[in-house]
Amino acid sequence: MDVPWEAMFAAAEKARTAAYAPYSRFHVGAAIACTDGSIVAGCNVENASYGLTVCAERNAIGAVVVSGKTPAAVALMVDSDKPTPPCGMCRQVLAEHAPAATVIRSRTLKGQEAQWTVGELLPHLFSKELL
Ligand code: THU
Repeated sequence: MDVPWEAMFAAAEKARTAAYAPYSRFHVGAAIACTDGSIVAGCNVENASYGLTVCAERNAIGAVVVSGKTPAAVALMVDSDKPTPPCGMCRQVLAEHAPAATVIRSRTLKGQEAQWTVGELLPHLFSKELL
């Protein structure tokens, strides 16, 4: 499948502007392209009880699971000097639902990009095969 990166980044940026991040002020948007070509987005949602914060990636994965689809690629929009990768918790969640070869591409508002695969970000993961 040709990954629709520009449509994904547009969806990620739209989601980023909806982020609820009054504590960190770090607004993140995630857009996941699914194997059927659809794009599902999520933003980070913080809480006054800080530990309850949910990252953009995990909210997007939740929406993918609800839709019954399978992730094919992930785009992240961040307002940061450098493109940022998903946090450790999100890597574990992404690895449960996306194949190791799935590409995650991160873009800053200035257009700088970096990309990794799910497998690169979380080698030796804990998975259901080990249960
Ligand atoms: N955050 C994300 O949404 N995704 C990431 O990849 C890294 C961090 C959020 C969590 C929190 O709301 C804020 O960014 C600062 O950590």
